[in-house]
Amino acid sequence: MPRPLIAVTDSPFPSLDPARAALARVDPELRVAKSASADDVLAVARDADAILVTYAKLPAELLRQLTRCKAIGRFGLGVDNIDVKAAAELGITVTYVPDYCMHEVSDHAMALLLALARKVPLSNTLVQGGRWEMPAVVPIHRLAGRVLGLVGFGNIPRALAPKAKAFGLRVVTHDPYMSPDALAAAGVEGVSLDRLLEISDFVSVHAPLSPATRGLFNADVFAKMKKGAVLINTARGPLVDEEALVAALDKGQLGGAALDVVTTEPLAKDSKLLGRDNVILTPHTAFYSVEALVELQTKCAADVARVLSGEPPVYPVKPS
Ligand SMILES: NC(=O)c1ccc[n+]([C@@H]2O[C@H](COP(=O)([O-])OP(=O)(O)OC[C@H]3O[C@@H](n4cnc5c(N)ncnc54)[C@H](O)[C@@H]3O)[C@@H](O)[C@H]2O)c1
Repeated sequence: MPRPLIAVTDSPFPSLDPARAALARVDPELRVAKSASADDVLAVARDADAILVTYAKLPAELLRQLTRCKAIGRFGLGVDNIDVKAAAELGITVTYVPDYCMHEVSDHAMALLLALARKVPLSNTLVQGGRWEMPAVVPIHRLAGRVLGLVGFGNIPRALAPKAKAFGLRVVTHDPYMSPDALAAAGVEGVSLDRLLEISDFVSVHAPLSPATRGLFNADVFAKMKKGAVLINTARGPLVDEEALVAALDKGQLGGAALDVVTTEPLAKDSKLLGRDNVILTPHTAFYSVEALVELQTKCAADVARVLSGEPPVYPVKPS
């Protein structure tokens, strides 16, 4: 087989060594685009046998200009930047990595929950400012026996549920696409969304972003939540209506929020979410660990090598 050419459209990684190692069996030449613009992507991808992509956009009109592409490997688990249907029509296999950061995101959601429940950021700010006192953090409630509601029960919340249970939390979930049997097998209680909102002290969002879920957490939903409950979002920012969230926090309907994702990233410098003792913000880093990135690159590149070798990929994306 002649040496395959693999185009890398964009790469946020410190190095591509894990990907190179996983591709070694097909001995490729790797060409990295100067930027993620369509022209720069085409300059390296037009005659490539495969593409590795992170955030660059691969719409149908770009895909139609590829002369010999057999595989597109997405470094990540969302494929909204690729026209998957057009790729299928052109005979291009698209792969992704749905399971590289389950440990990390579930740990991050648990860390946010614990930090809010124990008021760690507020306590730290007080002590850093020279105040060593308890009244400022009163009240803090015992975690054991309180209820965590998971909205969505895919890979990440399935990893989170046992961690939460280890802290004594009762875990309920709402996932309209999972059978009660599957939920029972995972040891969690399936409930309606209204019931989850009514009984949960902590609500953690894990649904995918779609036209049906955009703005799912709006003023009506916040009004149905238990007074003083806490919202945690490690899924996608637009699932939450931020103006409604700010209003619910101002009214005290919500006791706090912890967000790894926001509607517009990076967060606006004048966002009304900033400067609050009961809001924790992290910059969309829930997926990250050194190990997760190695796993991501290795799995993605290994699947591209499989397709180039005529073997079925482990993680194909099916056009919906
Ligand atoms: N912050 C980060 O760094 C980061 C990293 C990875 C994933 N994510 C996000 O985390 C979320 C969960 O990822 P995952 O791997 O667990 O997803 P997954 O694909 O394994 O599962 C998604 C689940 O959501 C359910 N669902 C669909 N619509 C729903 C609705 N309206 N209400 C409730 N449930 C619904 C589906 O039935 C499915 O079980 C996604 O939004 C993903 O984009 C964020």
